[in-house]
Amino acid sequence: MSASYEVRGNVAVITLNNPPVNGLGAATRLAIADGLEKAQADAAVSAIVVTGAGKAFSGGADIKEFGTPRALAEPNLLSLIKLEEACSKPIVAAIHSVCMGGGLELALGAHYRVAAPGTNVALPEVKLGLVPGAGGTQRLPRVLGLETALNIIVSGEPVKSELLAMQPGQKLFDRMIDGDLLEGAIAFAKEVAEVRPLPLVRDLKVKHPEAQAFLQFSRNTVGAMSKNFPAPLQCVEAVAASLGKDFEAGMKVEREAFIALMFTPESKALRHAFFAERAASKISDVPDGTPVRPINKLAVIGAGTMGGGIAMNFLNAGIPVVMLEMKQDALDRGVATMRKNYEGQVKKGKLKQEKYDERMALLSTTLSYDALGDADMVIEAVFEDIDVKKAVFQELDRVMKPGAILASNTSTLDVNKIAAFTKRPQDVIGTHFFSPANVMKLLEVVRGAATAKDVLATVMQLGKKIKKTCVVSGVCDGFIGNRMIEQYSRQAGFLLEEGATPAQVDKAAEKFGFAMGPFRMGDLAGNDVGWYIRKRRYLEKPDLRYSKTADLLCEMGRFGQKTGAGWYDYVPGKRDAIPSPLVEQMIADYRKDLGITPRKISDDEIVHRLVFALVNEAARLLEEGIAQRASDVDMVYLTGYGFPLHRGGPMCYADTVGLYNVVQMMKRFAQNPHDDATFWQPAPLLAKLAAEGKSFS
Ligand code: NAI
Repeated sequence: MSASYEVRGNVAVITLNNPPVNGLGAATRLAIADGLEKAQADAAVSAIVVTGAGKAFSGGADIKEFGTPRALAEPNLLSLIKLEEACSKPIVAAIHSVCMGGGLELALGAHYRVAAPGTNVALPEVKLGLVPGAGGTQRLPRVLGLETALNIIVSGEPVKSELLAMQPGQKLFDRMIDGDLLEGAIAFAKEVAEVRPLPLVRDLKVKHPEAQAFLQFSRNTVGAMSKNFPAPLQCVEAVAASLGKDFEAGMKVEREAFIALMFTPESKALRHAFFAERAASKISDVPDGTPVRPINKLAVIGAGTMGGGIAMNFLNAGIPVVMLEMKQDALDRGVATMRKNYEGQVKKGKLKQEKYDERMALLSTTLSYDALGDADMVIEAVFEDIDVKKAVFQELDRVMKPGAILASNTSTLDVNKIAAFTKRPQDVIGTHFFSPANVMKLLEVVRGAATAKDVLATVMQLGKKIKKTCVVSGVCDGFIGNRMIEQYSRQAGFLLEEGATPAQVDKAAEKFGFAMGPFRMGDLAGNDVGWYIRKRRYLEKPDLRYSKTADLLCEMGRFGQKTGAGWYDYVPGKRDAIPSPLVEQMIADYRKDLGITPRKISDDEIVHRLVFALVNEAARLLEEGIAQRASDVDMVYLTGYGFPLHRGGPMCYADTVGLYNVVQMMKRFAQNPHDDATFWQPAPLLAKLAAEGKSFS
């Protein structure tokens, strides 16, 4: 059923019924249109109430139909709203819980609106790189005024109905209903049943004392804040068109903007990310509904950089945490760092003092493994050393209760090996958080060879509870994200050898949209981390070529911001990266040793060598089944590595460029005598897709 119809007394009630949020799919639209027709044909009906069953009035477009012909099937939303406006009997939209996007536009087509307090009202289209497409930009200013409507449309953020109802002169809601919404709506419908002419939002006028000045101010601020995205400014222009006298002319402006934006790479990227986030939570052989284990208490081993941040995630979600360390002073330091972090949030007004107290009250500490027996899950975040991990996991195997989940936050070690230290490898999993763990959205969930399906399902659900974007990775060195970043870093090093400076590479990457270029990122994370990994690589894979510039930098003691110097110089206490003549000289000397005459490298070449290094490695991860799908790789890069959202992730970007073109560029890079020709051998999957004219998506 997509919408039901019933008559109560002399009021027809059309109830949208398309779980979970009454998306306006083709069948639902048709059922609403049928209901309107039936109500008009029935002489006993004098008014109509439209409402939603379950958890929403309507969340808007049905995402299951996005991009399919069904999304446009008649009656489309515009036609449906025309039917509402042409209806000979008054329509009352009874709004509750969620009223967003097309759902709000449908409500604005009704003659009246009544609402329950607590309803989230929004036009979130801008978040998908679009403007509202069914009159939202024209009707919302007519009922809420220019400023409030513009703020709602440009931000895409929900606003509570009771706040909107308090706006002076607002005409969005005709009545707020505290008790039974449907009963209240029916009573209201009876009151207005005979009122003629029927009021239409389109007939209202948008007024503002200083409209043009306000619009100019909006253009300036919105333009500055949304430089990579065209949609917010288009929202301003569409709302500006609502000031004209001719409603249809405004609708035309909105329509043209909607269609133009639909084809922009930015909207494509945002829509891709929207669906990628949802897809990432699906695991092909772990169906929805797989039973999960209850996690009411968590243990964290190690109160260092990661342990403290990890613990905070769970405290924030109301889950008690017991934290274990080897020594009391390490424990005290860890807790003090957590406190400092929370206190910073309190100072900035982001956290209430009571909440801070509540969260800290959920934390206990111990030096004894025997105190962990009542925890349902443990996350280990001790030194990255397999022997230390072995000792820890053997202790955990001894003390943790049967069925408890044993997770490691290792970033480079073999989760299968760690699982084998216990007698319960089915309960062992990797949870790879990113630093700072209480801030970064990404959580790589590492599935060991023996990890039980319910363990995986539990950790995915728990990840969602602590507001992470969870992406499943198989076991390999570096998992998805770090295995790819190693190839990106290798290219960054080769670029220095050939003539680029760290600042030039970073600038090109940042102009492309990366939050930080590779060298600024290295200085922030610590250049010694990569040095440590490379030393291991030199033994494991002696044929793999790395630029030695990063090693020379570390030999100079320039580990990055923490040592006050890295690829860049830093003024004590500041984070501004200042190009270092010393480093540039070191690179120039090294070039000379290699016999390379430096050349000018274009920003375009820099960006494509960095990004396609990621893409080629990701194609291998897909072939090996380490990553489940290309869009998972994109989620890892968007949420963990500062890849520009408006590009949709490396795989989405490669699809936009066209895989044939990607392979052609890689062939050109391979001809460069100073680059590594084997590096640019396209992964078989990439070569195959390119040859077949296909894309990753
Ligand atoms: P850290 O050195 O800041 O903290 C490790 C803590 O573990 C120290 O406080 C130490 O006293 C404690 N510890 C060591 N052995 C112990 C034992 N046997 N029992 C109890 N506590 C013990 O290290 P960090 O950076 O927090 O890393 C921890 C883990 O997280 C490592 O496996 C690392 O690879 C991983 N990781 C680190 C990231 C980072 O950016 N720092 C990112 C993602 C993962």
